[in-house]
Amino acid sequence: MKILGIETSCDETAASVVEDGVRILSNVVVSQIDIFAEYGGVIPEVAARSHLEVILPVIDKALSDAACTWDDIDAIAVTHAPGLLGSLLIGTLTARTLAILHDKPLYAVHHLKSHIYANWLNSRESELTPLGSRPSGPSPRADGANPRAAALRNPLEESISGSPSFPLLALVVSGGHTQILYMRGHNQFEIIGTTHDDAVGECFDKVAKILGLPYPGGPSIAKAALEGDDDRYSLPHPKVAGLDFSFSGLKTAVLRAVQKEVGVPISYPSHLLKDLLSEQQVADFAAAFQKTAVDILCEKMKQALIEHPDVKSVVAAGGVSANQELRRALSEAYFPAPSLSGDNGAMVAAACYFEIQSGVKPVNPYALNIYPRISIEN
Ligand code: KG4
Ligand code: ZN
Repeated sequence: MKILGIETSCDETAASVVEDGVRILSNVVVSQIDIFAEYGGVIPEVAARSHLEVILPVIDKALSDAACTWDDIDAIAVTHAPGLLGSLLIGTLTARTLAILHDKPLYAVHHLKSHIYANWLNSRESELTPLGSRPSGPSPRADGANPRAAALRNPLEESISGSPSFPLLALVVSGGHTQILYMRGHNQFEIIGTTHDDAVGECFDKVAKILGLPYPGGPSIAKAALEGDDDRYSLPHPKVAGLDFSFSGLKTAVLRAVQKEVGVPISYPSHLLKDLLSEQQVADFAAAFQKTAVDILCEKMKQALIEHPDVKSVVAAGGVSANQELRRALSEAYFPAPSLSGDNGAMVAAACYFEIQSGVKPVNPYALNIYPRISIEN
């Protein structure tokens, strides 16, 4: 079954054709990062306009890269929630029109489900790596399992299997969400932990701004941290009950520590702090912050595993799952291939495939709504 996945929830315009939920035939992502690096963050109206400009060429390229015509496509999947209103509108209106025009069933997919299902995808890089130069790690599997994920297989799981096993815990870490989910089976989601305020990706982005590092903050912090000493500054871990998180306190703690380090009062404009920091101080703050954020995520995952001893796998998902420190620290978890951690159409198609397997029905293309803030449990 070949599904065309379309994703436009934030600042990436993406389309992909995926076969049977696991095999990526094409994966086209046009990022607006260059536009928003200038502004230091996403401007929703600009994002929507950019989606509109490129969405049809992106979909055409996804079909041609996959050597598909519309006749080969069995279904269209599109992100309808959550995300930026204007961005979601462009993706869904395009998908609705194409579904009607080409008479294809249309499926509406929640963005966080898609991130989670990136863990079932074969990565395109590993498929394209010539056999002779393949690294010594596991090779792509005919059963459709993610080979990188297999390398990080959960030691809790005795039997060798390429895909995550249920019940599982999913750590969803993106620009808009930080949640721990318990999944009893495909397409069954129970939120067991969530952030009370900022998402961890948002915190990476805000701390990067304080340090004068470019948008998006996650990759900039990770890069700066490579030259830093994570022991130079100590940052507090917020005390939050249960499996919930809070990241706004950590952001403020970085702000206060920077103010103290450069000797200015708390009333000093935060956007001017970067001019008072040396390159080494920026690197050290980046390293200390990254370590603290990763430690907080890992502590809660450990606690979640203790509270759910039946769990057979752990998966990580969302833009922050590209972070190498997190990958090292959560070495027992499945991670998507790094190129599939961020927003893409392949994960939308994968999630749709498993929804169809779970009995989810197509939506009415004449009446599909968008939901900028709806929970994955709905
Ligand atoms: O999933 P995503 O691409 O978009 C949303 O659904 O929000 O996540 C974007 C977030 C941004 O906050 C970005 O700074 C963060 O993921 N991110 C990272 C890394 N790469 C992207 N955070 C930490 N380390 C990274 N390497
Ligand atoms: Zn995302």
